[in-house]
Amino acid sequence: MKDKVNTDNFKKRKNSAYNATIKRIFMLMAKHRLRFAASICLAVAVVAATLLVPVLTGEAVDSIISEGNVDFEKLIKIILYIIILMFICAVSRYAMDVINNLIAYDMLKDIRIKAFSKLQKLPVGFIDSTSHGSIINRLINDVNKLSEGLLLGFTQFFTGILTIVLTLILIFRVSAGIGMAVVGLTPLSMVVAFFIAKKTHTYFKNQSICQADMAGVVNEMIEGISCIKAFGTESKICRVFESADEKLRQSALNAIFFQSITNPATRFINSSIYALVGIVGALSVIKGGMSIGQLAAVLSYAVQYSKPFNEISAVFAELQNSVVCASRVFSIIDETEVPADRESAVELKKVSGNVILKDVEFSYNKGREFIKNLNIEAGKGQHIAIVGPTGCGKTTIINLLMRFYEMDSGEMFIDGINAMNIKRNSLAGSYGMVLQDTWLKSGTIKENIAMSKPGAGIDEIKRAAKEAYADGFISRLPNGYDTVIGHDGGNLSSGEKQLLCIARVMLNLPTMLILDEATSSLDTMTEMRIKKAFDKMMEQRTSFVVAHRLSTITSADIILVMKDGNIIERGKHEELLKLNGFYSQLYNSQYG
Ligand SMILES: Nc1ncnc2c1ncn2[C@@H]1O[C@H](COP(=O)(O)OP(=O)(O)O)[C@@H](O)[C@H]1O
Ligand SMILES: [Mg+2]
Repeated sequence: MKDKVNTDNFKKRKNSAYNATIKRIFMLMAKHRLRFAASICLAVAVVAATLLVPVLTGEAVDSIISEGNVDFEKLIKIILYIIILMFICAVSRYAMDVINNLIAYDMLKDIRIKAFSKLQKLPVGFIDSTSHGSIINRLINDVNKLSEGLLLGFTQFFTGILTIVLTLILIFRVSAGIGMAVVGLTPLSMVVAFFIAKKTHTYFKNQSICQADMAGVVNEMIEGISCIKAFGTESKICRVFESADEKLRQSALNAIFFQSITNPATRFINSSIYALVGIVGALSVIKGGMSIGQLAAVLSYAVQYSKPFNEISAVFAELQNSVVCASRVFSIIDETEVPADRESAVELKKVSGNVILKDVEFSYNKGREFIKNLNIEAGKGQHIAIVGPTGCGKTTIINLLMRFYEMDSGEMFIDGINAMNIKRNSLAGSYGMVLQDTWLKSGTIKENIAMSKPGAGIDEIKRAAKEAYADGFISRLPNGYDTVIGHDGGNLSSGEKQLLCIARVMLNLPTMLILDEATSSLDTMTEMRIKKAFDKMMEQRTSFVVAHRLSTITSADIILVMKDGNIIERGKHEELLKLNGFYSQLYNSQYG
């Protein structure tokens, strides 16, 4: 009983969310109401022109009465009318398509830009906790699906409904009896349209999902080829591929089965309607109820009448799908943004680099406390090292320093100014950051370095690269600074990518620095080289350095030793060793 109430509630909520999404799509469409009005007028013109042709053909037939008794004058006039109607139909159809595409793509552009710019205003926490694939999917594929649905809806829905209504009116005008017969057979068309056509649609959708799954397997295989070979899991991934392949085969066969019966079933119904109209019509012609030309017209209406049913049902299925896709895109647009800067927030001008964290508490999961009672004081130009086992909260402290995450309580001061009163961009801009994961964009080496200082000249760039010890390898590249790399750095080694990122920070050195495991993935030789670059970079700059290999931070002014979210020891290297506590344990485990 309770379960039923729960599912009912769930359904209600789902339905109201669905309706809200539809309402929202309509509101977006409302912006284009003039274009819509034009599109509907054009749809009326298309359908009316199409349906008038049989009437004229009927009249043409009636003007050919017997040999020697043909009204040529009327016949030529009718042929002329038909040509004009076909021309109107073609032009209107073209204009309608153009307008519909304009509406759909303008709407989508709006939605996409809104979602994309929203992404940049979301807390880092949202991006961290949402699968990147799903975000990309929502911005690209879901928006595409929405456009397909909308376009299909605009083009086929109006014309379909109009065709059905106008055809019926025209048939009834000629003969009420035939009209009744056609209406009587309508449920048959409905069955085909709403059962078979819908099933076909569902299976085709399944088929494309299976195709995407298969693409995923292939992608995983290509990206992880070395791992797969190393672990000898070739046969396992082959089995995964085979099962994905089998699923694809099944859904493709199902889709094709239903698609194959749609056509014969539709034909069968069309033929039935045609035969019925033919028989009833012939009887009525004999009795003098209508002319042969009228019968010809009514017969061609009978053929056109049942066609739109299939189209409309396909539109419905596609639209339902579109609404689901739209709701996924809207969910990004509706995410809570990072709160705006306070009115009173200031821009940091000349930072001297005095950073204080006072009584800070923070947790990612509000039910599980993590960092408590955190106090750090970094004087101007001091080097603060943060060490501790994986997962102890080193990166979390960096996240708090950059305000990527907001602390739950406590305060942070930069040069005595409360961080809440500093503009976010200005705070983040006061730090130069080098992380373990390098971030490059597709473009030339030159462009990648110049990112920190747009418009920097080549001399400046080269100087920064020299200071970062990156000039050596760049000069050895075939195109030097103009070498184009992909966003993954192409064939550069991880050390070389790291050097590029350091050169970028070197080019425009802020007063404060953050290095989070920047050298952890490098070999010791490269690390030694980069350390020289770092030392140069950190000269007289307040720096927070997270390091895995303790040998790289022994000269730090303060070493913070962390464990499970807490700083358990702090001091200089020698002091900490003397303490004979956790730090000396860590140090001895590496170098003892
Ligand atoms: N975005 C996040 N959401 C939830 N938990 C997180 C998030 N980032 C890190 N954590 C968790 O917080 C703890 C500290 O992580 P982190 O500060 O990255 O450790 P590290 O000292 O290795 O840099 C870990 O247990 C980690 O799983
Ligand atoms: Mg970390």
